[in-house]
Order: sequence, then structure tokens, then C-alpha cells
Amino acid sequence: MASFPGATPDSIDMPSLQHATPTELPAWQTLTQHAGATPHLRDLLDSDAGRVQRLTLSAAGITLDASRQRLTPAIEQALQALAAEAQLGQQRDAMFRGEHINLTEDRPVLHVALRGGQGPWGAAISADVARELGRMCRFADEVRSGACRSSTDETFTDVVNIGIGGSDLGPRMAADALAHLTHTGPRVHYVSNPDAWALYSVLRGIDARRTLIVVSSKTFTTQETMTNAASCQRWLLDQGIAAEHVGQHLVAITATPAESARQGYPAERTFLFWDWVGGRYSVWSALGLPLAIGIGGAAFRDFLAGARAMDEHFCQAPLSQNLPVQLALHGIWNRNFLRCPTQLIVSYASRLVRFVPFVQQMDMESNGKSTHIGGAPVDVDTGPIIWGGLGIDGQHAYFQLIHQGRHTVPVEFIGVQTEDSPLPLAATHHGVVNLNLRAQAEAMARGRSYEDTLTLLERSGLAGEEAATMARHRMFAGNIPNSILWLDRLDPARLGALIALYEHKVFTQAAIWRINAYDQWGVELGKTMAKAMEQSAA
Ligand code: F6P
Repeated sequence: MASFPGATPDSIDMPSLQHATPTELPAWQTLTQHAGATPHLRDLLDSDAGRVQRLTLSAAGITLDASRQRLTPAIEQALQALAAEAQLGQQRDAMFRGEHINLTEDRPVLHVALRGGQGPWGAAISADVARELGRMCRFADEVRSGACRSSTDETFTDVVNIGIGGSDLGPRMAADALAHLTHTGPRVHYVSNPDAWALYSVLRGIDARRTLIVVSSKTFTTQETMTNAASCQRWLLDQGIAAEHVGQHLVAITATPAESARQGYPAERTFLFWDWVGGRYSVWSALGLPLAIGIGGAAFRDFLAGARAMDEHFCQAPLSQNLPVQLALHGIWNRNFLRCPTQLIVSYASRLVRFVPFVQQMDMESNGKSTHIGGAPVDVDTGPIIWGGLGIDGQHAYFQLIHQGRHTVPVEFIGVQTEDSPLPLAATHHGVVNLNLRAQAEAMARGRSYEDTLTLLERSGLAGEEAATMARHRMFAGNIPNSILWLDRLDPARLGALIALYEHKVFTQAAIWRINAYDQWGVELGKTMAKAMEQSAA
């Protein structure tokens, strides 16, 4: 097992981190001077022969082509200096060591330990993780093989995961992304919305005698999840499952086993994770059970191994070659210096249909903060608005605004190099998809100038004021910063690496902005008010 040599025992300089703000760092000042004076991407691409090679990085089966970011060598160097001056390496090592970097909840942040193996977090945590992972994968395989049987001694044909936010988005997204591996197991359904129709539309088509309900909730108190869980129990009874046998159709996944036990979930069907795993970082834990039931325990372990490969790269690669660090620094350049408030992410692989909602929670619930870790208001812009979806569909909808609207929207394209569909014309489909991805990336970067557009129109027969007016409608300013992330193929390991890449991107940006990415007080007020309204109505 590879070690994490980056995680040295150097202590993080917490007092200076608690007080400093990024604007005081010399590199921030340098970057401020560069902002506003970058050449057009068209010129950057044409004038710098080594650009594509210099700005292309690979790790864990993923390649980042950042040649279409609005960067010059001087800006690239200043961004790296920014990461070093922000003590990024020391902050990263503190996370891997299990220091309580989640200051407002006084907890470590150790989702990295869930990928398995030994690490600087210590043997006790590794042992807990290995035990629970083993239990979870065994159970998943028993459900898949039919060894785990229902109260009527039948195999489970359907599994319904009840959870919301981090207890839903990760496994649901990954199950779609790995759908090519799910055809042999039971059908796995995901219900997050407490609107009765959402649950009913799943339950009406399945047989209670052959259904396993998985209730996924870190706290086991979330109102939406508990509403759906209670409704499922009632449905099991109404469908003829005897009260004393309902437990055979139920599973709990939680970091609060006392609460699930109080609600009657048996210990042998309760799978655990820990308070040092944030909900949005929990797909690697027992929370991944519905995914493991879908793809099998061995593929789930491959998924973890892919994430671990990205962790090792994050800990070991120098800043200039470090894929998550570079992705994060480009985001900071766009957010803080080019002043772009949003980040569009578009996938060109249809199986990654839910990747953007998943990353949206990960990024916006983590870095949507306005308070510096020392307690003062932050004096820089923090997490951007993350949005997007499938690029091919976006091309025929909101891409109009990206190309010709008044906002500059940085874009991250995600593509897959290898096709794995058995459809006879799969290679043709794949060619169309990736051709479009490349064309959009190039069109956004280069645009088409007024002069070039006018020449084209004049060649097609337009002249005078008519040609000039049309040219103004049909020109493209371009200069839209974008990157392409290429996955070698879409398999469990590459998916694990992709998620870990974004986790470390979010970490890096928070470390530079000096905010706590691991609390989520912003979602509390609405919950508290809903509770208060419920109580006053009772
Ligand atoms: O409301 C947001 C949130 O707290 C997320 O952070 C979390 O993933 C989700 O709710 C679900 O919480 P739980 O797993 O405790 O039900």
C-alpha cells in the first residue's frame, strides 16, 4: 500500500491562518495586478507553442486540458505562489492527520480514510473503516446473490433508498454513472422528496414481499427522510408483511445508531459511519450500500481505489503538476480576479447525468460561506454558483447565453475517451459526442471576431449596412475560459478519482479563501423554522 509522504508531521501554523486573509498574501497582490490585462485566448493559443503541453496534466486515469484558461506563465506562477503562501501543503497534511480542521464543529475531516488502507489518520480509524466496509460489501453481495432473503423467504428484487442531500446524491449519481454494471442485481430506487407522489410512484410498481428499504441518514432525524421512512413501514404492513417481520425488510445507515435503534432498526441491519464524515463526502462510507448493491462489492472497492489514487496524487505531486490544485487555482483566478460569479460544469457522457447536482452540493454547501475561519467576515468572493448538466442538451439551450450573453461563464467540460456501449453504431455516437465537446471548447475560447464574421457574410453575398448589422448579431466575443477533463473510460476507479478530484478542489479553494468547507450552518435556519412551525401547528 502506498504511503502519503506529503503528510509529514509538520504542524500547521494555525494562529497565522486564523488571522491572515488571502488579500494580504504577496501573490494575491501580484494576481490583482495581472487581472484585466490578459491577452485574448485566441492570441494565447496561437502565440504559445508549448501551451497545450504545459497546461495538460494527468493523474489516476483523468487528464486535465487547461490550455483554454486565461493564463499566462506569469499568472500560472503567481497562482502556485498563492497556494504555497496559503500553506496549502500544511493544511492538506493537517486534514490527512485527522486534526480538527472543522473548527466550528470541533471535528476532524477524514473522508479520505474511507478509501481504505493505512494513513496518517491512524490504525484505529483504519480498523473501524475496514470492519464496516467488509460488513457492508458482504451484505451487498448477499442481497445481490439472493443469499439474503426476505421475510417470505424470497430474493429481493427491489431496493428503495430513502435519504436526502448527501444521503442520496452520491450513491444515486454513481449508480447512474456505473449503470453498465447494475443489470445483474436487484433494481435500486432512490427517493429523497417527501412529496407523497415521489414515494408512491416507486412503491406502486414493486412487490413489498421482495423489497428492501434502506434508510440513509447521518443524523436519523432529518424530517424529509423520516417522513418517507415512516411511510415505507406503513406500506410494508399494508401490503401484508407481519409486524414482527418488517425488520427483515429494513436497513439503517447512520452515524447515530442510538437514534436508529430507538426507532426499532435492528443492530445487525444497521451500517455505521462517523461524525468525521460530512454528508456530502459520505458516498465512500456505508452510505454507499445502495450503490454496492447495484454494482457489487468488488466494483465498490475499485471505486474506493480510484479515489485513493487521486488522494495519493494530491499528497505527492508538486503544485504545478497537481491536478486538484491546478483545477482549484484556475477556479480562484476566474472567481476572484476575472470576477466570474458562476462555474458551469457540463458532462458529455450521458451516464454522468447526475454528476453536476452532486458536485453542486459538494461545492456550494462546502464553500458557500462568508465567514473567515478566524470569525471575521471574509473580504474575498468565495464559492461560485455551480450549475450545468449534460453538455449536448445544453448546446441546444443555455449555451446561447454562454456564447453571446453578457456574463462570462467559465466552463469545465467532462468527456470520456473510451466508448463501452454494445450498441452496433456506438463508435459513431461516441465520435459525435466528443466532436461536439471539442468544438464547443474551441468556439468558446476563440470566438469569431466581427471582422471575420463580416468577411464570411460578404462572401455569402451580403453587403453594406446589412452585412455590418448581421455581423454584429453573428460575431462571438469568445475568450470564455474553459477546461476539459478527460476520463480514460467511465469505470468505478475513474469515477472514484473524479469525485476525489472535486473534493480536493473544494478543499484547496477553502484553504486559500480561509473558510471552513466542512460545516453547513446555512441549511439550519430553514430546518429550525420548519420544526417550529410543525410544533406550533400541533
Ligand atoms: O440539509 C442539508 C443536510 O444537512 C446535508 O448536509 C446532509 O447531507 C443532508 O442534510 C441529509 O442529512 P442526514 O444524512 O442527517 O439525513
